[in-house]
Formats: sequence, C-alpha cells, structure tokens
Amino acid sequence: KPRVFSGIQPSGGLTLGNYLGAIKRFVDMQDSGIETLYCMVDMHAITVWQDPEALRRQTRELAAGYLAAGLDPAKSILFNQSQVSAHAELGWVFNCVARMGWMNRMTQWKDKTTGKNAEQASLGLFAYPSLMAADILVYHATHVPVGEDQKQHVELTRDIAAKFNHDYKVDFFPITEPVIEGAATRVMSLRDGSKKMSKSDPSDNSRINLTDDADKIASKIRKAKTDAEPLPESMEGLDARPEAKNLVNIYAALSGMSKEAVLGEFAGQGFGAFKPKLADLAVASLAPISVEMGRLMEDPAEIDRILGAGADRAAAIAEPVLAQTLDIVGMIRSR
Ligand code: TYM
Repeated sequence: KPRVFSGIQPSGGLTLGNYLGAIKRFVDMQDSGIETLYCMVDMHAITVWQDPEALRRQTRELAAGYLAAGLDPAKSILFNQSQVSAHAELGWVFNCVARMGWMNRMTQWKDKTTGKNAEQASLGLFAYPSLMAADILVYHATHVPVGEDQKQHVELTRDIAAKFNHDYKVDFFPITEPVIEGAATRVMSLRDGSKKMSKSDPSDNSRINLTDDADKIASKIRKAKTDAEPLPESMEGLDARPEAKNLVNIYAALSGMSKEAVLGEFAGQGFGAFKPKLADLAVASLAPISVEMGRLMEDPAEIDRILGAGADRAAAIAEPVLAQTLDIVGMIRSR
C-alpha cells in the first residue's frame, strides 16, 4: 500500500528552497489521494544546539508554514517527531543495523565536519541518517518527497531496510523510493549560483524566507546576482550560467510551467525584463503564505492541538510496526 512520509527540521526559518523542494510537493501529494504523513523533526534539530524556547517557536512556525502552504490536517497527518517515541526506539535498532562506514560516507556529515572539529560534533549528528531511516520505515512509507540534497539519506534508508530484511530473514521493511521531482529540486543561493539556498547562510539576501513580506521578496529578487546576457532559447544555453538557470527554475516551479515554456516566453530578453516578472510571481505566490503564517502564529495553542492530534494518528500506525520489529529482533514483549 503506498504511503508518503517526509520531514523538515525546525532548526530555523523556512526558505524558498524548503518550499519548492519539499512543502509545495507535499501539498501536491496530499491532494493525490495517497495517505500522507508530514513531520517536524525536532529530534533531528537537536543534533546541533537549539535554544529550548527558540526550538518550540520554530516548531510552531514550521507547522504554521505547512498549514499556510495548504497542508490540511484533515487530509495529512501533521505532527512533531518527539511526540511519537517509536521513531527514537526504531532508530536505536537501526543504529545496530547500520555500519559506521555507511555513516562516514554521508556527504552531509562530511560537509558539516570537514575542516571543523569533528571530535566536537554530537554523536546524534553522526547517527542522524539512521533516525531518518526510522522516521520513514516506522510507517512502512513507500515514497519520500525531498529535495536533491536528501537523496543520499533516502538511499541509506533503502540499505538499512535491505540489511534488516536480510539479517533477520524477513520481508518486513519496504524499499522506499525518493521522489525528487519538479523544476526546483535544488534551489541555489541568490548571491552565488554554486551554493545551495540555505537557512544557515550568513547573508539574508541569499535566500527568500517564507516569512518575508512582499517588499522584501521583490527587493531580494531585484538584487539577485545575474549576468548581462539575454535568456537563451533552450536550457542547455544556461549550463554555464548557474545564477540565471536558478531564476528560470524558480520561475518554472512557482508558475507550474515547464522550463522550456518559461524560456519560450522570455528568450531574447534580459534580466531587466525577467526579474520584475519573477518578482510579481514570487510575491503573488509567497506573500499570502507569509501573511497566513503570521495569523496562525497568533494562536500557538491551536497549533499544539493540531500537532497532538496528528501525533495520536501517527502513533497508531507506528506502534504496531515497532512492536513487530522488536519481536523480529528477539525482544520479550510481555506487558
Ligand atoms: P531539511 O530540514 O534540511 O530540509 C527540508 C526539505 O527541504 C529540502 N530543501 C531544499 N530543496 C531544494 N532546494 C533547496 N535549496 C533546499 N533546501 C532544503 C530538503 O531536501 C528537504 O526535503 N534530513 C532532512 C529532514 C528529515 C527527513 C526525514 C526528510 C528527517 N527525517 C524523513 C524526509 C524523510 C533535512 O534535514 O531536511
């Protein structure tokens, strides 16, 4: 039976990258009729230091972002990870299935620790992908919509499922598919087309935040780095122009047009013409989300209620899977 799971860390604000790579596609999948679970992975967030009050606020803000973008608690199960303890329990079992060498090969781990003092990284940061595998597999999820940067972690999830099934001679965990689709699976920084758009970039002008108002969104697009050439007829013409390519990808993803159709409309025109159109489109799509997030944040108790109700529904799926897993592994279950 198909089932969709995905998660986002409440470790800071949401960016246009999170929106186009993840949330917007969560909404599309929710409306496709498949069962969908979307999580705020607070246990992952604490793999690096989080101020407790800030973590609570960011988790609610992420929930507000999900809701404002169109996720509906009547259609999708929305919850924060720590309220369903089966994630952490299955994560421990997977820590004993996964190998150190697998974790050492994770590019995100390497990026976060090379040149820095890896001795000072938390043990949780190293084991992060194993907990992520548990998030997915505790629901027997078959499809995981993510941006390009999470592909390796979903592949590791497949390796963990396969090794568990092999070691215990069972056909228990499904081999999950990453779903990396759409025109903007890797949104780049607005200041540097070789870097991913990220909430941790020191320059606020490098990203569009989902909480930015209309003026901010428009001004960041106006200031985005580009070049002096007009837009080409085909996408190959953008191969050596990462900043230009990124803006075309963003336009396509926000408008729902194909990249070719975007170029069909703008080929031969320069950024003086393209940027105002992109700014209008971005403001029209994103500013209402920012306004709605602000409105939802005025009632944190209602957000907490939605997360609690979602966690109840999530736990009802996860707990039997955990119980079966522990049984397979050989744990006595007598209470
Ligand atoms: P996180 O919180 O870094 O990002 C959340 C989602 O946003 C996508 N994303 C992007 N997509 C396109 N362009 C970008 N610039 C960009 N930046 C972020 C990410 O690919 C991701 O889909 N490990 C995950 C959270 C997680 C998870 C899971 C995901 C934990 N458990 C289980 C799926 C399933 C993470 O840190 O994402």
